[in-house]
Amino acid sequence: MAEDRPKDIERVRKRWNEHANRYDGWYERFEGAVEHYVEWELLKGRLPQNRDAKILDAAGGTGRITLPLAKMGYSVTLCDISTGMINVAKQKLIKERISDKVKILECDVGDLPFPDESFDFILCWDGMIEAANELIRVTKRGGKISIFLMNRCREAIDLLPEDPASALALIKSRLDYIYHDEEKHRAVTAEDARKLFEAEGIRVIDIYAVCGWLNVLPIPEKVRESRNWDEKFFRQVAEMLLRLSKEPSVKGMSRHLVLYGERI
Ligand SMILES: C[S@@+](CC[C@H](N)C(=O)[O-])C[C@H]1O[C@@H](n2cnc3c(N)ncnc32)[C@H](O)[C@@H]1O
Repeated sequence: MAEDRPKDIERVRKRWNEHANRYDGWYERFEGAVEHYVEWELLKGRLPQNRDAKILDAAGGTGRITLPLAKMGYSVTLCDISTGMINVAKQKLIKERISDKVKILECDVGDLPFPDESFDFILCWDGMIEAANELIRVTKRGGKISIFLMNRCREAIDLLPEDPASALALIKSRLDYIYHDEEKHRAVTAEDARKLFEAEGIRVIDIYAVCGWLNVLPIPEKVRESRNWDEKFFRQVAEMLLRLSKEPSVKGMSRHLVLYGERI
């Protein structure tokens, strides 16, 4: 049974440092490109109207979201625990000549070096509900947050073949944590997430089901992993996933939930 262990930040940093040069490659494949499309479509409509707004991309990695935001004119702060991921982001910003729009910091999202109410919009796209209080602390009142959370039902489904006892405990809410590559995450349902964030002074705007859909749809591995694809099929799959991400009856099926909320 998966037992509770404290999070080992050094191990997390090491793992992402090792992964840094391969991370963006995943988004060049069909499955990654579709996920990026869906996540960006959901985000676009929620961004601040005012381009002077201050945005924090917490656990922002190689700048997958920071870059397009900076190109739109927002002033963005990217923070991440991994030097390797940050270095990739820096190289991309230099190449695109937008380094002046982005501040980069190496830090733990659980201990942010910013005063209370520093940002108008905060993204944290790495399933870290444990950092929620710290992320909320640095969000301005009236500001918005977008946070990825590990989806409890899908985690239980994926865990079933290797550890049925933990899978059952997870689905019955007797177990809260799951491990991915030794990284500890708390898994929640959409309803858990809504209650937890509302208790912390967040008005929940919406919760979408994102990531991991292509493993449950009957799309061949060869297509999922390809780097050249038929554009019409890409659009069809991407539109389908966008609809599924908003469909309440299948919210348990995606790998992540992304919660959009406003600090009141
Ligand atoms: C899956 S990547 C996501 C990167 C980016 N948000 C994106 O959506 O492309 C996860 C990132 O979270 C970072 N990370 C993990 N734990 C962290 C922590 N406690 N504090 C800051 N960053 C962390 C990792 O270094 C890695 O860059």
